[in-house]
Amino acid sequence: MARILITSALPYINGIKHLGNLVGSMLPADVYARFRRQTGDEVLYICATDEHGTPAELAALAIGQSVQAYCDEQHEVQKRAGDQFGLSFDHFGRTSRDENYILTQHFAAKLQENGFVEKRTEKQVFSIADDRFLPDRYVEGTCPICAYEKARGDQCDNCGRLLDPTDLKDPYSSVSGSKDIELRDTTHLYLLQEKLQAPVETWVEDHADVWPALTLSIARKWLKEGLRDRAITRDLKWGVPLGDAFGPEMANKVFYVWFDAPIGYIAATKEKYDEWESWWREDKGAEDVSYVQFMGKDNVAFHTVSFPCTIFGSEEPWKKVDTLKSLNWLTWYGGKFSTSEKRGIFMDQALEILPADYWRWYLMANAPESDDTSFTLEGFAQTVNKDLADVLGNFVNRVTRFCKSKFGEEVPDGGEVGPVEEKLFAELDTRIASYTENLHAMEFRKACADLRAIWAAGNEYMQEAAPWTAFKEDPAKAAIGVRVGLNLIKLFGVLSHPIVPFTSEKLLAIFGTTDTSWPTGPAAEILTSLPAGTSFTPPDVLFKKIEDSQVEEWKETFGAP
Ligand code: 2FM
Ligand code: ZN
Repeated sequence: MARILITSALPYINGIKHLGNLVGSMLPADVYARFRRQTGDEVLYICATDEHGTPAELAALAIGQSVQAYCDEQHEVQKRAGDQFGLSFDHFGRTSRDENYILTQHFAAKLQENGFVEKRTEKQVFSIADDRFLPDRYVEGTCPICAYEKARGDQCDNCGRLLDPTDLKDPYSSVSGSKDIELRDTTHLYLLQEKLQAPVETWVEDHADVWPALTLSIARKWLKEGLRDRAITRDLKWGVPLGDAFGPEMANKVFYVWFDAPIGYIAATKEKYDEWESWWREDKGAEDVSYVQFMGKDNVAFHTVSFPCTIFGSEEPWKKVDTLKSLNWLTWYGGKFSTSEKRGIFMDQALEILPADYWRWYLMANAPESDDTSFTLEGFAQTVNKDLADVLGNFVNRVTRFCKSKFGEEVPDGGEVGPVEEKLFAELDTRIASYTENLHAMEFRKACADLRAIWAAGNEYMQEAAPWTAFKEDPAKAAIGVRVGLNLIKLFGVLSHPIVPFTSEKLLAIFGTTDTSWPTGPAAEILTSLPAGTSFTPPDVLFKKIEDSQVEEWKETFGAP
């Protein structure tokens, strides 16, 4: 039994996530966590809301709520949506909790002790009207690169460049709109990343054989450009306070959100588990833990370079990531899903129109692994109708209804395995092996193609065995066909669990079981394992087809181009 620690990038607190965010980290992490639990491994899947930074403050301000109340509310909203999507977090924590304050301050203190932090005074954007500094998104203006007029202090949404507030032309306060702005001196803590380049680089190269190409290429690009020292504090009120460890002039500042957020992985574990160190400290039991992170490609640099600087600089034996699965973008009809502009489908809206498994299947079968992938409602409807309704749903319906009408509600006896069954067993042996391998490798599109082929093999078998035709003249032949068919349903229930867990539960409930243990033996054994006489309950229709008229209606509702 292996010990697998899994984290998915912590979703920002400001608003419920869209389907692009979901498939970029939390959903693939969930699929992997479920699969590894099924194979008997000890899994800990941790996530949390990322609650600091200017987006949270600004979102709260926009609706006249305190940041604390806003975060309390939004955390619950996100937690509920995650539950409803079947995200099987072992814990869904919050970066605004004490555990994260304490650990963040601990890391900063260690970095200071080891000489990797220093104070620097620099000019920052100050709004006279608001009587405050305007870090990150508090200031907007014209992008110095592409001239976009609504670039934010930390990034231009038009050209994607990371910016510094002082880079903007014609800056104005995003709180008051005031242009009465000047540059004032302020002191911040800098993490001396230049000094940490060497250990980070060695560590990255040590993983060259195991990290996916996308992850590795992003890490190498940053290292090649050379790491630069970066400010890890901000003139804000909301965030992890520096406390008194860095002098009285620093006491009213907070850590930068990207400094405390990844520490949140550890802190969220500590929120729930007394034995958290056995997952995170190599000197306290974590040396045999295998740690897998999931995230969208925009997060890779922070996880392969910036956060490792924090860990190396601490000179303590914290667990570092072993495998980092990064994903490209899911686009909304080729354009951007956008939280701030509410473009695309968000998790709560998705569930209002269809159950979670419809989305989970489409998203994982089309996961943006090798490239960006375009979400379209037309493609979604087609996939659902074909794979889920025609192939899987129809199979289950046909087999259970036929059996009930001819043999009653129990697995029929009689008949013997012949060449048609042998052919099915041989095909499933190959397919299940490939599916298992692809899930282990986190190649989700390929895994879904395998699962689809497994469902289809069941249909083809039923087509050939044709118990409905055999029944009159050779009831024993019909019985073996139905018996293998029912066994296939149970097997589908187990194999489908990582991707479509709610459907898996329904399939297994047909036979009154919840056992999802991963199959290990040959198909010939698995598909004859339900003894004759086992009773079953035919399910209601598993999937409803999506009508063209619904697609048209949703395109209108969600503003599809
Ligand atoms: O990009 C994002 O959505 C960030 N909130 C991810 C943070 S991941 C981790 F470091 F906390
Ligand atoms: Zn720009």
